[in-house]
Amino acid sequence: MIEEGKARIVVKEGVFYNAKAKLSRDIGVAFVYAIAKKMGRKLRICEPLAATGIRGIRYMLETDSVEHLTLNDKLKQAYINIIENVEINSIKPYSDVYNEDANLILEKHAQKNRRFDFVDIDPFGSPISFVQSGLRSLAHKGYLAIASTDTAAIYGVAKRACLRRYSSVSLKNEFMKEIGLRILTAACIRIASMNELALKPVFAHATMHYVRVYFTMQVSISKIDPILDQIGYAEYCERCLWRTTFKRIEEFSKSCKICGNKTFYAGPLWLGALYEKDIINAMLDFKNSIEASKLLETINQEAEMPAFFYTLDSLASKIGVVEPKLVEMIQKLRDNGFLASRTHLHPKGIKTNADYHEVINILKEIRKT
Ligand SMILES: C[S@@+](CC[C@H](N)C(=O)[O-])C[C@H]1O[C@@H](n2cnc3c(N)ncnc32)[C@H](O)[C@@H]1O
Ligand SMILES: [Zn+2]
Repeated sequence: MIEEGKARIVVKEGVFYNAKAKLSRDIGVAFVYAIAKKMGRKLRICEPLAATGIRGIRYMLETDSVEHLTLNDKLKQAYINIIENVEINSIKPYSDVYNEDANLILEKHAQKNRRFDFVDIDPFGSPISFVQSGLRSLAHKGYLAIASTDTAAIYGVAKRACLRRYSSVSLKNEFMKEIGLRILTAACIRIASMNELALKPVFAHATMHYVRVYFTMQVSISKIDPILDQIGYAEYCERCLWRTTFKRIEEFSKSCKICGNKTFYAGPLWLGALYEKDIINAMLDFKNSIEASKLLETINQEAEMPAFFYTLDSLASKIGVVEPKLVEMIQKLRDNGFLASRTHLHPKGIKTNADYHEVINILKEIRKT
């Protein structure tokens, strides 16, 4: 028997359970708590790729905010395993368990009065093939979590795979985790827009080997264009680490504004906000594990920062100075009137609204004093 959070589960042979993904489930629990608080009622939740069922079971046991839980896995042993875990945790009267393909179970719920308030899609690899049915199974103003372990594609290692699966160009650089998060976000938004649905991110994190984006969905055509207008590109110089963002591909300058070197681009990707502050605040109110609370505190600091970040070690080595402490650099940026924070995406990462020149000048100044 395994204990995780308030759940006790058995894991049958051949059924997936990764103890290391506890943090991702801790965050998910806090998210469910936050959105139920925001909606002012209990939720109907679906986990269509549930494996042991641990995630959905924890959502129900730990938030006291779940009215009904639908769990599904296409693997027979997993289905049997979920049934047993639902019984062990005494939630049978509030749960349905299915043994179907995820798309089928979601489509079956894509009708009035059967739709969910929150769907959590947690597959192996790319989630893209489940996004459309996930959206169709959601009630207006419902929430969708999309997880991906397809990091080779979205972090710029498997570039062709990224083009195939996300219709985006990725880049492997010091802020590739944020590029990956934003490529996945844009791909989901575009699938929603093709279905005339407005999808907007409200929370995101990239931890260990996976990426998770949480969205809110509205059935509102007028809300789609303002969201699509926040999709664009990042431009990057490998030589001096200069970067910028732009909206339309014709604006790609191809050469670095600082050193003249050839630049590369990533995108289409989401350039807008990844977070809604009230959701983070409610997540912070939830009594969580130490690890999850730490992650949430860092995310809270970076939530309103612009897209992308600098890494102190690579900047310092580019300009040939000894690397200062991260806190010192952040403080110095703030002293100079800029916004600055660390980021959960990189231990040496700094998010700031200061531009490249300003960051470099402040870094040089620290070393002079
Ligand atoms: C990464 S695991 C889910 C882990 C689980 N959410 C957790 O937090 O422990 C992915 C699961 O999806 C199932 N699966 C894969 N393809 C599927 C499909 N097309 N429909 C339904 N289940 C599927 C696998 O059998 C596996 O149990
Ligand atoms: Zn350059």
